[in-house]
Amino acid sequence: MEHEVRRLLDAEAAATGRRRKALIETYGCQQNGADSDRMRGQLVAMGFDLAGAREDADLILFNTCAVREHAEQKLLGNLGALRHLKARRPGLVIAVTGCMMQQPHRVEEITKKYRHVDIVLGTNTFFKLPEAVHRAMTEGGRTAEIDGGSPDIPEDIPVARESGIRAWVTAMYGCNNFCSYCVVPYTRGRERSRPPEYIEEEVRGLVKAGYKDITLLGQNVNSYGWGFPKLLALLDAIEGDYLIRFMTSHPKDATPGLFEAMAASKHVARQLHLPVQSGSDAVLAAMNRRYTAEHYLGLAQKARELIPDLTLTSDIIVGFPGESEADFEATLDLIRTVRFDSLFTFAYSARRGTRAADMEGQIPAEVKKSRLIALMKTQQVISAEKNAALLGCVQRVLVMGRKGFLEGRTEGGKPCYFEGDDALIGSFVPVKITIAKSFVLYGELQ
Ligand code: SAH
Ligand code: SF4
Ligand code: F3S
Repeated sequence: MEHEVRRLLDAEAAATGRRRKALIETYGCQQNGADSDRMRGQLVAMGFDLAGAREDADLILFNTCAVREHAEQKLLGNLGALRHLKARRPGLVIAVTGCMMQQPHRVEEITKKYRHVDIVLGTNTFFKLPEAVHRAMTEGGRTAEIDGGSPDIPEDIPVARESGIRAWVTAMYGCNNFCSYCVVPYTRGRERSRPPEYIEEEVRGLVKAGYKDITLLGQNVNSYGWGFPKLLALLDAIEGDYLIRFMTSHPKDATPGLFEAMAASKHVARQLHLPVQSGSDAVLAAMNRRYTAEHYLGLAQKARELIPDLTLTSDIIVGFPGESEADFEATLDLIRTVRFDSLFTFAYSARRGTRAADMEGQIPAEVKKSRLIALMKTQQVISAEKNAALLGCVQRVLVMGRKGFLEGRTEGGKPCYFEGDDALIGSFVPVKITIAKSFVLYGELQ
């Protein structure tokens, strides 16, 4: 179907001298980013140019996230704002995809109340975009196609990445864990792993094309069907100058074997994102995380023992239903003990259909907010101390672009700024750290 749209667009461009443009706005996590790369690939194959702004676009696609209330509200606001644009330009095609569209109540809301939306596709049907675009362009017809199951995602979808340096590669789709607060198992279906040979081929192609920073994606890579440490070893054998990262690892399944594979590798970044969510065993149990704080501390210790220069980061949710002051203190204790390099911190957001949404003891918004602030303040000091320990050290930094200074990332994933020539963009360079803040480093090229 790509080709049929392409024929239409080529003919139109020949007649008018103008080619239609498409814009994708991506919300949420890297998995959505990876899906957007494939939808962008399809749009390019259909003959669209890429637009830089909504006003220039003939097709606007929002790839949505449902993980927290805030993400959903923002999307609805942005979608509402397109009403005027569509009224002025009736030919505009508007598509909504992603995790919000796996929720029946949202699909109903969009199809009934947001009549200016032409295309609705889910996380397991996004690759049907060419058919939907063809229908919108030829019949002016609306498409809503959601698959609640866990089908195989085709391997032959074209990919158009935004960066030539950094790439996401899906290792597995879906999640089986059903943490009681989380919507992802409902929006992404059950776990499905891509066979190692497909992943290897994709990574080999990326390295050959000059990509330097490749992140393997999965909601819980430790349950990768063919063994995740084995996959890392397979990919590590690919020749070239590049780094492999992965997210996310679940503490209930992370093993010393994973840390050993990281330690033994040449290309796997010494960086681990290991979300703990809470330091209280009662809260962890209610979250259905299936590990204790003590187990987590043991893992962090083992990881650092095997990988001494490891950068360790985590996610924390505050204000989970029933979280007492003492539970929250246990979380603060845990982060003071582990001393993460940085943390992603979230106020609990009740998600329709999840078990936690119906639990007693929902925490008032002000309490969640004050706990979030206390957590962030505690971590900020730790992050500053961790970064200060890098002063005077030379880090291997991948130069990503320019924001005033050259902007790069250390192997641990920390942003680092320094003076240098644009020709360095896309390569690894040694940088001596001269200024260390909580969230960024500054340095001098060596
Ligand atoms: N699969 C990954 C996380 C995916 S969601 C994992 O298990 O670690 C990313 C983060 O969002 C989670 O780690 C959690 O900290 C946060 N999150 C998920 N659901 C949430 C909710 N309902 N409210 C607040 N934060 C949430
Ligand atoms: Fe959500 Fe838990 Fe699955 Fe992560 S492991 S995506 S937090 S259910
Ligand atoms: Fe959001 Fe879906 Fe990712 S809910 S965090 S885009 S898996």
